[in-house]
Amino acid sequence: MAKTIGILTAGGDSPGLNAAIRAVGKAAQQHYDMHVIGFKDGFSGLIQNRHVRLDGDSLSGILSRGGTILGTSRIKVHKVDVGDGQKIDMRPMIQRVVEDHDLAAVVCLGGGGTMKNAYRLHKVGIPVVTLPKTIDNDVWGTDTTFGYDTAMTIATDAIDRLHSTAHSHHRIMIAEVMGHNTGWLTLGAGLAGGADSILLPEIPFEVEAVAESILRRKAEGSSFSIVAVAEGAMSAADRRRHEEIRTQIDGLDDDADDSELRAELEAFHIGRKHSTEHLADQLEELTGLEARVTILGHVQRGGSPSTADRLLATQLGTAATDSIAEGKTGVMIAARNGEAVQVPLKKIAGNRKSVPLDHPWIESARRLGIEFGD
Ligand code: F6P
Repeated sequence: MAKTIGILTAGGDSPGLNAAIRAVGKAAQQHYDMHVIGFKDGFSGLIQNRHVRLDGDSLSGILSRGGTILGTSRIKVHKVDVGDGQKIDMRPMIQRVVEDHDLAAVVCLGGGGTMKNAYRLHKVGIPVVTLPKTIDNDVWGTDTTFGYDTAMTIATDAIDRLHSTAHSHHRIMIAEVMGHNTGWLTLGAGLAGGADSILLPEIPFEVEAVAESILRRKAEGSSFSIVAVAEGAMSAADRRRHEEIRTQIDGLDDDADDSELRAELEAFHIGRKHSTEHLADQLEELTGLEARVTILGHVQRGGSPSTADRLLATQLGTAATDSIAEGKTGVMIAARNGEAVQVPLKKIAGNRKSVPLDHPWIESARRLGIEFGD
């Protein structure tokens, strides 16, 4: 009997997911004569065995569609909330679903959280292969992730559009860009969109340095400035406070009560919820110029995938079926120098790919006089 592959999409949605589902589905059927079923809403659907058959019809016409036809969710497979504060390890249930369908593997499309979940499944003997998708581009072990190029293009377009209004009103326009705790999206869109300051989680900033660069521009005849700030960027003082709390938590014995420190960390994050508005207030005060904030938010995740993301999703998706046909599971299919390669999940889970401080885009930006606030 022909083998069956399961597939699911987990974590935040991202342009290119449907292109990858299509690639896995079509290559499995046409090249390997395998069946494919899709689990609904990420790992939740896998636990509950909510699935659909992915055949010719359902795989057709989805290449250019944004979002995911399968739906998605964010859960941890070994700690699923079942109400009343109770958390259950659902891996035995997943094991049964995989055995019932006699799956050759479950292909899990996702970012950092999905890599950890997939590794948790691999460790108990469930065959998984993952594909790196996220607009954040922060998955360790791959040169890039699908969704990143599309989101970067959307953010670049937004920064382009902020220029004319910034120029007309002589204002500071601040664009807050997604990216979780890394600055890939902000750096790429900031540089491509011609931002004057780029603030990244990887480079703690001093607001005074940003204000000075805006005033310098003004003195040189540019009465407006564009600031691209990553949602995870922090002032140097905030970064120090964050590190202090984290170090104290990490230094506690396993059985020590960490509730007070955890509450402090949560209060810190709640306090940062309006950090971009706060940055605007500070810049207004320090420069005497008006400042306005645009939070790009989920617009960056929407719409049709770019050509580059379709190609990447298609290449990695078809390579996932090769890996399964070879019997190679417990791996992520990564993009490296234009090739699709298998990287063990053990190496990836728990790691994050941050922007290196000597990244060529940072070097170029510094040569252009773009301010990083450090
Ligand atoms: O990981 C993708 C991402 O869009 C991040 O950039 C952002 O921090 C997060 O997801 C937002 O999550 P949600 O869709 O749950 O609001």
